[in-house]
Amino acid sequence: MSSSSDRTPSNPRTTRIFDSLAVLQQEAADAFCAAVEETLENKDRFCVSLSGGSTPKGLYQQLASRDLPWDRIHWFWGDERNVPHDDADSNTKMVREALLQPASVPEQNVHPVEVNVEDPASAAMKYEQTLRGFFPEQPFPAWDLVLLGMGDDAHTASLFPETAALSEDERWFVENWVEKFEGYRYTLSPPAINSGERIWFLISGESKREALKNVWSGERNTDQFPSQLIYPTRWYLTQDVAS
Ligand code: 6PG
Repeated sequence: MSSSSDRTPSNPRTTRIFDSLAVLQQEAADAFCAAVEETLENKDRFCVSLSGGSTPKGLYQQLASRDLPWDRIHWFWGDERNVPHDDADSNTKMVREALLQPASVPEQNVHPVEVNVEDPASAAMKYEQTLRGFFPEQPFPAWDLVLLGMGDDAHTASLFPETAALSEDERWFVENWVEKFEGYRYTLSPPAINSGERIWFLISGESKREALKNVWSGERNTDQFPSQLIYPTRWYLTQDVAS
């Protein structure tokens, strides 16, 4: 696994390009299972931070049919929308339906953000306490894996361009006002993503091509291209976004 020292926003050595999203999701599911097996050789649990959005959904659906040590994997969310868990926009709802329910994942292994629509700041602080309880004595969460997507505006998690969370370097998990939604999101801060042992971007769709080009080879402008703040260990891309 690459060390953080040789991580750069664009690291061609760790980029894999696929002809289709389905193949990308299949390969990512294979890699997920391998990462779990490798981790559990010398740790008692595997902690993963999940991405929302449509790209990883097929990965989650693939995982539901794999033979995984479900009692030793703990599922967290890297970001969440400020909506109840039964709302169509909820990342918790999407993951529950795609993976957690079909695989009958033990409830004690599932750690959703307890959204508080009226008081997002307290919900973010509460989730940070949950994370700190899982990773005591750590400067930031010691994820075994962080899964990330990227939007066509180069956001990742809920680190959107020109938002306050981009400059958060102490808190692990924050509420983040996003003007274009006229609402709050919840997100891991950049250092709380970069602390992952494995950090994988899964990106698909021609609409992301320009954003990826800016993240990889544009000027360094993290306010405009927030994904530049992240130092991933792997990029899983479909051909339409990589070309
Ligand atoms: C979210 C995600 C977000 C997502 C990107 C890409 O809550 O929406 O965490 O960062 O990964 O918006 O979404 P798609 O995979 O649907 O393109």
